[in-house]
Amino acid sequence: MASRRSTSKQWLRRQTADPYVKQRDRDGYRSRAAFKLKEILKRDRLIRNGSFVLDLGASPGGWSQVAAAMAGPQGKVVAVDLLPMEPINGVHFINGDCRDPDTFDKISAEFGERRADLVISDIAPNITGIRDVDEANFLELADFVSDISNRMLAADGTMVIKLFQFPGTDSYIAELKKSYASISRRKPESSRRESRELYVVAKGFGI
Ligand SMILES: C[S@@+](CC[C@H](N)C(=O)[O-])C[C@H]1O[C@@H](n2cnc3c(N)ncnc32)[C@H](O)[C@@H]1O
Repeated sequence: MASRRSTSKQWLRRQTADPYVKQRDRDGYRSRAAFKLKEILKRDRLIRNGSFVLDLGASPGGWSQVAAAMAGPQGKVVAVDLLPMEPINGVHFINGDCRDPDTFDKISAEFGERRADLVISDIAPNITGIRDVDEANFLELADFVSDISNRMLAADGTMVIKLFQFPGTDSYIAELKKSYASISRRKPESSRRESRELYVVAKGFGI
């Protein structure tokens, strides 16, 4: 087994060589993940000027930065995370657990009568390394994301969710098909090939 020291050396080498890490620093994004969302949004043209967006699992804020820039001053971005997040212009941050009903009430109050045009979720639990436990934790959170989307999305709205390839992932995606007109799987260029993450774009909520 690789020692912790050699693993962190490998990590440092990969970070230094990664063009997206350099670009992240140049462009002032808080996360490398910002590029994955940018690719998905661009390809599917999911945000317009004036869009209302809910960002679940938002800290440190790379996705919120991208969403706020695209939605513009007429739009609104509400971001939620267990962890704190430094303020971002145009982003309303809720520090809470998305499984907590109080958090849902705060989200709902932020949107008022309006509904979200887009829900984005990069939410991820802490990894234990025990596959069954990680799968159960991940799918539990994904269920909460679906539930919040079902309650917050406008008709014909879109949900973008990061998933991992677990045995139960296909059934989760099959369930989404009941609520959305179309489901697409995306693996952006900026997502590391060795990563088991995939992104699902679910369009046409409730139609
Ligand atoms: C991969 S990070 C998000 C990165 C973010 N999209 C960005 O671009 O900066 C996943 C986030 O999910 C959050 N998270 C995990 N479980 C959560 C929960 N139950 N409620 C809210 N946030 C949660 C974590 O705290 C973490 O900040």
